[in-house]
Amino acid sequence: MMKLILSLTLIWTLSSTAEALECWHSEGTDIGRTELLPCYSTELCATVALQENDNGTFTQDTIRSCLPSSIFSEGKHTFSSSVGLASMAASVHLCNTDRCNSQVIPHPGVLKKNNLQCFTCDDPYSAVCNKTVQCVGVQDRCFSWTVADKDGKTIRTFGCVSANICETAPRLMPRHDSSLKFISEPKCCGSSLCNSG
Ligand SMILES: *[C@@H]1O[C@H](CO)[C@@H](O)[C@H](O)[C@H]1NC(C)=O
Ligand SMILES: *[C@@H]1O[C@H](CO)[C@@H](O)[C@H](O)[C@H]1NC(C)=O
Repeated sequence: MMKLILSLTLIWTLSSTAEALECWHSEGTDIGRTELLPCYSTELCATVALQENDNGTFTQDTIRSCLPSSIFSEGKHTFSSSVGLASMAASVHLCNTDRCNSQVIPHPGVLKKNNLQCFTCDDPYSAVCNKTVQCVGVQDRCFSWTVADKDGKTIRTFGCVSANICETAPRLMPRHDSSLKFISEPKCCGSSLCNSG
């Protein structure tokens, strides 16, 4: 989900040029490949310590880039989700001076179960999402979002998310993107199994 957010963000930012920050850019664990690039004037420098578990395969990456200040505020944030067989957590630091995103930041690490459970489905093309997933760490909302892809097949994204994903997701999802048709808006709710239907 964080990768999705980051790639949507890249599309979103192809918009303005003016006076801007210069930030470090890199992806993965190879710090040696870091390069200094200008951002758009509407962006901050960002460091993202991302960990993902995709059906049992665990990966950790550090991403340095620019992110839009209209969506991500300066300071430290933790984003997290458990949707279907994939979960992710990311520590995100945003800063507002040239080359400020060189710091090494820790990954979120092992996340403890919290007291929320949500509906999910292992396969996003399932007709119903009636499996339950245990939320962990900062995942304090149940999420539901249904879209149709370009072939008209229904895709369901149900699971646990952190509240800050509820705030950023609707702003990042291109409402008039031609490849996805919204069947329901992205919705969040705060009690166990509240994301039914
Ligand atoms: C998830 O992993 C299990 C066990 O390794 C495997 O049987 C299953 O096919 C995987 N599911 C997906 C959607 O990749
Ligand atoms: C989920 O829904 C399917 C289809 O309606 C049903 O066959 C299955 O028993 C349900 N599973 C649970 C855990 O409720």
